[in-house]
Amino acid sequence: MTVVHDLDVPEIDVVGLDREAALAALDHARRQHWLARTPLGYAVTRYEDVTAILRDRRFHSALSLLPQMAGVPEGRMRDRQQQSILSMEGHEHDRVRRLASPAFTPRATDRLRPFMRQVINDLVEGFADTGHCELVSDVCEPYPIPIICELLGAPKDDWRLFSGWATDIFRIFNNDLDAIETAMGKLETYVRAMIDQRRNRPADDLLTRLIEVEEQGDRMSTDELVMMTEAVLMAGTDTTRNQLACSVALFTGYPDQWAALADNPDLAGPAVEETMRHLGTVRGTARVAAVDADYRGIVFPTGTLVMTSLVAANHDSAVWPDPGRFDITREPAGVPQLTFGSGIHYCLGASLARAELQEALPILARRMPNLRLDEAIQWKLPTVGIWGPSRLALAFSPRS
Ligand code: HEM
Repeated sequence: MTVVHDLDVPEIDVVGLDREAALAALDHARRQHWLARTPLGYAVTRYEDVTAILRDRRFHSALSLLPQMAGVPEGRMRDRQQQSILSMEGHEHDRVRRLASPAFTPRATDRLRPFMRQVINDLVEGFADTGHCELVSDVCEPYPIPIICELLGAPKDDWRLFSGWATDIFRIFNNDLDAIETAMGKLETYVRAMIDQRRNRPADDLLTRLIEVEEQGDRMSTDELVMMTEAVLMAGTDTTRNQLACSVALFTGYPDQWAALADNPDLAGPAVEETMRHLGTVRGTARVAAVDADYRGIVFPTGTLVMTSLVAANHDSAVWPDPGRFDITREPAGVPQLTFGSGIHYCLGASLARAELQEALPILARRMPNLRLDEAIQWKLPTVGIWGPSRLALAFSPRS
């Protein structure tokens, strides 16, 4: 059987390219072959292969390799990444995921919808009369933290603490290890105290549910509860912020669809799926072969890195006719967009994130009619894992 390293496949390097150029390169590679070679390993770009690799248990999450690849030295930070649900595999992952899942069903997250509407309306209130805002700092950054705190059951007054810790922990890309470790330590102390409180005094919140959930006599340990809380905070904050900014940025080029969304709340669901397909904040993830794995008759030796390009799969014309067209009324493809991933690591917070976006977008569309750019959109560096606008200055018709 052919070993992947001996295969003649196109080479791509999208690092440093802006979104359009990266998409063009991925499109070009996809038309030539189902596999491409990259400076770090290989990449799959077709919907079929991206989902197949993400669902293939011989390929493990490469997320725990990320700090190492970013040059983070061995230590607490790297250990923590390895202990996260995002890095777990096999029985260990199945167990934690099974215990955590009931807390993240659509029913469990739907109860937060009125709170989401209140948060977004309060944020818009701050600038609604002016006809101008900078969406990233005025809306996207503050939006998810109160919701995660409400979900966890943390008191309102502590939102700012969580926000500060989340910001510091995200400094992985700046390699600011001291700030990350200090923030992790403070978050851990806080969460352990919360767990103790909930054990004595259960409440109607995620932590209580995670503590109480029990399957065949199995429960999460305190360490696992701390890990899950951190994972929720880390995986659920910057993703939602950036996706909201990406989605609104996209609508600025489609005023008719923005107006349609304002008029018809039923379009909220399709609008979220189509904006995430067209301009997803998570553009790809990676897997590493845990054994010598043959896929499509090609051997991927143990340790081979395979990038699964979610953005390329979301633009696969075999699934979405005319994939470059943005249309919130497009016929459903019959398969999901892939910005939440696929397989065992499929986003645990997808229902919560969908609810957050489905509540935010129509409110913004109604309260910010005639939306337009006040200045050119500034985008984050293309190397950043969770990507989106760094500045989105908007103008709209204020209420009279
Ligand atoms: C628009 C917002 C979001 C996007 C685009 C997103 C995307 C993703 C993706 C692509 C993965 C899989 C990564 C991989 O396979 O390597 C993932 C996993 C995960 N997400 Fe999200 N996410 C979002 C919001 C959230 C929220 C709000 C939460 C928390 C409540 C959350 C919690 C998680 C967790 C815990 C995992 C790991 C699941 C596992 O490994 O079993 N995410 N997310």
